[in-house]
Amino acid sequence: MLSKRNVLLLKIVLFLFALNFVTLFLYFTSHSKQSPLPSSQTLPNSLSNHLFNGHNDRFLKPWPILPSYLPWSHGSPPPSRSCEAYFGNGFSDRQDLLAPGNHGADGWFRCFHSDTLRSSICEGGRIRMDPGRVRMSRGGERLEDVIGRKEEEELPKFEGGAFEVDGGPGLRGVPRRLAGDEFLDRYVPGNGIAMHTMRGLLQSAQVVGSTHFDCPQWVEEPTLLVTRFEYANLFHTITDWYSAYVSSRVTGLPNRPNVVFVDGHCMAPMEETWKALFSSIRYAKNFSGPVCFRHAILSPLGYETALFKGLSEEINCNGASAQDLWQNPDDQKTARLSEFGEMIRASFGFPLNRHRVEKPVSGYNVLFVRREDYLAHPRHGGKVESRLSNEQEVFDSLNNWASNHHVCKVNLVNGLFAHMSMKEQVRAIQDASVIIGAHGAGLTHIVSALPKTVILEIISSYYRRPHFALIARWKGLEYHAINLDGSHANPKIVIDNLSSIMKSLGC
Ligand SMILES: *[C@@H]1O[C@H](CO)[C@@H](O)[C@H](O)[C@H]1NC(C)=O
Ligand SMILES: *[C@@H]1O[C@H](CO)[C@@H](O)[C@H](O)[C@H]1NC(C)=O
Repeated sequence: MLSKRNVLLLKIVLFLFALNFVTLFLYFTSHSKQSPLPSSQTLPNSLSNHLFNGHNDRFLKPWPILPSYLPWSHGSPPPSRSCEAYFGNGFSDRQDLLAPGNHGADGWFRCFHSDTLRSSICEGGRIRMDPGRVRMSRGGERLEDVIGRKEEEELPKFEGGAFEVDGGPGLRGVPRRLAGDEFLDRYVPGNGIAMHTMRGLLQSAQVVGSTHFDCPQWVEEPTLLVTRFEYANLFHTITDWYSAYVSSRVTGLPNRPNVVFVDGHCMAPMEETWKALFSSIRYAKNFSGPVCFRHAILSPLGYETALFKGLSEEINCNGASAQDLWQNPDDQKTARLSEFGEMIRASFGFPLNRHRVEKPVSGYNVLFVRREDYLAHPRHGGKVESRLSNEQEVFDSLNNWASNHHVCKVNLVNGLFAHMSMKEQVRAIQDASVIIGAHGAGLTHIVSALPKTVILEIISSYYRRPHFALIARWKGLEYHAINLDGSHANPKIVIDNLSSIMKSLGC
């Protein structure tokens, strides 16, 4: 006999199975109809291998199975400013800039615009990049070697011909622009960003006739072109990861794409996660000469994600579980940040079948995310701004309290993130029952926290911004804040708050 619980579990398993099936079905049917990807008949295969630093780009990583995954293609577009439009696929206005010709060998290019995010995800086929015509530093250097380099040297400036699309054998005469200003103003607006690199890329992109479309090397597999901003800051990098993830899903990529950084930033610790999330990474200038992409996708800037936009506009969304949303669709709820957090955890090989930190025999982990001084980027003085002036004192008091807490065992974990690999940081986050920290980018990791994790943020009066309160809300995490006068915290107040949280956990 099956108990009620088992019947429920069986139903959930069957439901997930059916969901996967439906998604795959939708994927294949929609793609067989609309995707004009030509097959790779014209190329010697050997050239396409080893382009990604010894990694054979014919073997891309598959997508992991994510418990919070919901389909990314919709019968009808989600309502403007709904949670799905902000966090999922609101890129429903399709604009073809170059339709595939009937010769089979032509390039193509189109954009999907979201009026909610005022941004577009663009993709195309037979796209040529000439790194020699992108003015920027080489990128990928060791930080110590490029101290003092200016950010504007690291951001790309595109000369004519930096990007070209194959316009087919019938196209003659001088190259023409791929996208006019009117198109750009409407679908890829500058959005007040001083150097909008994706707009810059599109502005300079040209359509050329096949006879002028020279390709010494090809990348056969789908490749995301990304320009990172504030690449050494975890908050901004997470917006870049999110945008890259959304771009891959909106364009229905069957596997995880390669990533090319179209920027000249130096190496950063976050590359570990870029490598884990995607099939491979490479800097644009790392290609020795022009390179052609069978399928390239332009990932919008991190500034154009809901994670960033929510800092300045009201995004009225609460986190919910994917099962709830599947049964009761709700425009004011989202499971996308949970899906994304699972994507990060799966990429590092962590199992996803845990929904809460079980009451562990070894005790409850309370993770204290520390802010440490370290050299973040070439323009950095090596000191982080103090947002909790007596952080060490608060940590020591909590440690003392934890070791004398006898209702249950509490382990205070010293989250020295600047000294930990990205994978270890994510492990610490998912193993925590409570996460405490002063406002700082390290807290952005809570996107990977398990659903029952409680957040306690200590906020100085000099830096009162809503980043983590918002992420907690969009993910459906319980969130508490201690608002300081100045940047000094009374350890007793922190302990009182933590101890009341522990009580609510039955401890
Ligand atoms: C490309 O990257 C590899 C390591 O990933 C490095 O050894 C090589 O020097 C780079 N080449 C260029 C042209 O930057
Ligand atoms: C938590 O901290 C606040 C200060 O932000 C304080 O007023 C409140 O009393 C504390 N809560 C508990 C339960 O101790």
